[in-house]
Amino acid sequence: MQIKTVGVLGCGLMGGGIAQVSAASGFKTIVREVNQGALDKGMARIKRFLDDGVSKGKVTNEQRDTTLANLTGTTQFGAMRDCDLIIEAIVENVDEKVAAYTMLDAGVSERTIFASNTSSLCITELAAKTKRPDRFGGLHFFNPVPLMKLVEVVRALTTSEETYQALFQFSQALGKEPITAPDKPGFIVNRLLVPYLLDAIRCYERGLGTIEDIDKGMKLGCGYPMGPLTLLDFVGLDTTYYIANIMFDEYKDAMFAAPPLLKRMVLAGKLGRKSGEGFYKY
Ligand code: 3HC
Repeated sequence: MQIKTVGVLGCGLMGGGIAQVSAASGFKTIVREVNQGALDKGMARIKRFLDDGVSKGKVTNEQRDTTLANLTGTTQFGAMRDCDLIIEAIVENVDEKVAAYTMLDAGVSERTIFASNTSSLCITELAAKTKRPDRFGGLHFFNPVPLMKLVEVVRALTTSEETYQALFQFSQALGKEPITAPDKPGFIVNRLLVPYLLDAIRCYERGLGTIEDIDKGMKLGCGYPMGPLTLLDFVGLDTTYYIANIMFDEYKDAMFAAPPLLKRMVLAGKLGRKSGEGFYKY
């Protein structure tokens, strides 16, 4: 299966990052947002990242210009008509995702592959809600997408071998290092990361150390790029809470249970960087 044109649904942090690396890797890329305001914001973030890359000497002027030339923003599903692969990176809500797939199913080629960037929903369930369960899989990217090398390629029970191979090879064409993950909550990385993050909150709640010392301990003692509480602010406390609840629901294991402090911080709107305050102030 030859992938030349890529559609991305959602131009938020993840969708915008996916669209950027796709365009930077030479794919004609069409990214869709629900309205012009959200699209402008997402496209401006991509441009800012590329401009910063030029200032840091990590991206050449030519690479920035080629990436932007390969990238088209739209608010229309119809613009995805000729896409060989469509990656969905919209809100983590089954109904909204299914509504988007339904809009696309009728308007794109039968051969088009659908992939979801969901971090927590069941890929087999999403695939089953489309008219192409064999041409559907998970492509789970990591934040910040342009910098993180990993992609988890997730096979639904129905994903065909051809689709899985196409998704794996596409990830490699993006310059990423794909791994194969099972369609189980958390896949591989969040299955290991989320209990660690929740445990860091539990330890903080129980007085193990200050926020700064817990972070410093793991950063300098283990060589992690960020301490767990900094990483929670970075990922978003609401996102972590949401993923933890889905994992707890499926596994019924206490290690996935959201600590009381996490729930209360989310209720208080302390979501991390995105809201200006989490464990730290921004
Ligand atoms: N363009 C190109 N390159 C850029 C760039 C840009 N705009 N901005 C930064 N870079 C490069 C830098 O030059 C640097 O490259 P080098 O290593 O070759 O020198 C590299 O990217 C790192 O950037 P910085 O030095 O500016 O920043 P930091 O060293 O502080 O790293 C970070 C930032 C990459 C975010 C690092 O802190 C990190 O890896 N944090 C952990 C992130 C993480 O764990 N993400 C996963 C979250 S979980 C997830 O996403 C799953 C979901 O389902 C929840």
